[in-house]
Amino acid sequence: MSGRRKLIAGNWKMNGRHEDGVALATGLAEKLRGAGTVPFDLLVCPPATLIWPVAAAVTGSGVAVGGQDCHVKTSGAHTGDISPAMLTDAGCAYVIVGHSERRQDHKESDALIAAKAAAAHAAGLVAIICVGETKEQRQAGQAGAVVASQLAGSIPAGATATNTVIAYEPVWAIGTGLTATPADVAEIHALIRADLLKRLDSGAAVRILYGGSVKPDNAVELMAVPDVDGALVGGASLKVADFWGIASACL
Ligand code: 13P
Repeated sequence: MSGRRKLIAGNWKMNGRHEDGVALATGLAEKLRGAGTVPFDLLVCPPATLIWPVAAAVTGSGVAVGGQDCHVKTSGAHTGDISPAMLTDAGCAYVIVGHSERRQDHKESDALIAAKAAAAHAAGLVAIICVGETKEQRQAGQAGAVVASQLAGSIPAGATATNTVIAYEPVWAIGTGLTATPADVAEIHALIRADLLKRLDSGAAVRILYGGSVKPDNAVELMAVPDVDGALVGGASLKVADFWGIASACL
């Protein structure tokens, strides 16, 4: 046993309207309540429009809520952005930063991601910092070097096992149905652990999630890989049965 409690996190991305978002959250809350004591934490990260009603729907159930991104500032003239303080106000305990879709779509740099994670920490949020190589980088044998460089640039001073989670999401495995093999996952997670041990006093206790086409039928295998401390799930987090099926791999 690693002593690290697994975290099963659902990233809903830009999906869901009020009715289905609340139904999904309510369904998960019922599952968790009905399961009694479980050896994992369950987290949902809805789109910003649904954070308030989802937080209300899961109150008291043990399901945690997170944002999918945040700004570095607390408030001000930043049209379209959401501050870490607003996320805590809405009921969030976590925020994802540096997802590859934001690195790509919004040209987010490692330095910006580190600043976002630091701002999240200052607001009392746990930052889930995402790293992962593209298909071209993997084919060129650069996966480990890319991840190491992203870690070096994206983890802020002040990161600890309490306020930081790392998510390894190979870009080529996201939404493609292609999953990294357990051996590939083990290799990169070991590299991340070694990096965290060097970088942080509490590096041994930081949770490292795997993300990229995690489904109920591959979750048992993936969750058994050393240094895999949970999953960051996209598509399969949008259905109660699928997401709960993944969480059940940790039972
Ligand atoms: P999929 O599970 O849909 O591959 O998405 C993974 C992801 O990007 C989670 O953040």
